[in-house]
Amino acid sequence: MNALERYRPLVVEELRRSLELDGLLGLLVRYPLGLSEANGAPGPGIGGKLLRPCLVLFSCEALGGEFGRALPLAAALELIHNFSLVHDDIQDGDELRRGRPTAWKAFGIGQAINAGDALLALALRVALRADLPGAVKLQAQEALVSATLAMIEGQVLDLAAEGKPLDGEGYLGMARRKTGALLGCAFVLGALAAGRPDLWGTSQELGEELGLAFQIQDDLLGIWGDPKKTGKPVGSDLLRKKRSFPVSFALEHDPELAGLLSSPKDHMDAILRRLEEVGAREAAQEEVKRRLSRAERLSLELPWPGWARAAFQELLSFMATREA
Ligand code: IPE
Ligand code: IPE
Ligand code: MG
Ligand code: MG
Repeated sequence: MNALERYRPLVVEELRRSLELDGLLGLLVRYPLGLSEANGAPGPGIGGKLLRPCLVLFSCEALGGEFGRALPLAAALELIHNFSLVHDDIQDGDELRRGRPTAWKAFGIGQAINAGDALLALALRVALRADLPGAVKLQAQEALVSATLAMIEGQVLDLAAEGKPLDGEGYLGMARRKTGALLGCAFVLGALAAGRPDLWGTSQELGEELGLAFQIQDDLLGIWGDPKKTGKPVGSDLLRKKRSFPVSFALEHDPELAGLLSSPKDHMDAILRRLEEVGAREAAQEEVKRRLSRAERLSLELPWPGWARAAFQELLSFMATREA
């Protein structure tokens, strides 16, 4: 991720500025990002990887744009991502995010819903502040709003699939939306800010493939990861009967697993054993690699200079091996 690291300080500053709200509402929107503690004390600092906003700036610069101009769009996308996480943790019943209590654990479900709603509104506001021609800002709003809707549709499909059969195609459709949409949007926003709306389609597809790889890796980490590294609970997808990639794969190849998965609490060891035996872990790792290769192939269609190609290679290796 090194090549993207240099964008981080700028993104952090833009996020800080965009979250300057008074009172309890200010606290509610700063807490999930790590800028405040629940009692109003200063927080530990931005906890997330800032992958999406860094990709906006990367995509802009790689296409010859002035990336500073894309900064408000980058912040907007990160705020939408945080909105999705705050609501996702309520929906998934998860108590830990970025190594801290989730917003609903800290403030209750009602206020966490408010926090998420406000993060979305702030995102749309900061995007309007970009120093870009009005027509470009309109396109950026269109990209942000469409990606948000696609992400929410993915969340709808994710919840609808809990405890139900979901085949490989169904899984990919859900993950392309819930995670692919915002990663696709990152590359699109960069292209728009660089004055290359003609690259919208390829940029979106490239980001979506990365998003699929990212979500499948997230699914792997949700079963076999280390909570000390991910800052998120392990095993909660299984307890929640989520149709993660490994589980969808295993159910297609070992129908008897359905019985064990229907009461996960009592069968955790057996489920983990069967997932390994049926090859679900390796199949997921293979699918991550396949999606990353597709992203790489799509990147060849973009007129990037050498430094951008090298940075992208670094990103691909990070995606293939990340533990957090
Ligand atoms: C977590 O996203 C949710 C998924 C889409 C898998 P990230 O892993 O990018 O979360 P942060 O922002 O770095 O915490
Ligand atoms: C990721 O959801 C997608 C969104 C939050 C929109 P997950 O539920 O799979 O992600 P984590 O593991 O809680 O971060
Ligand atoms: Mg979740
Ligand atoms: Mg979820």
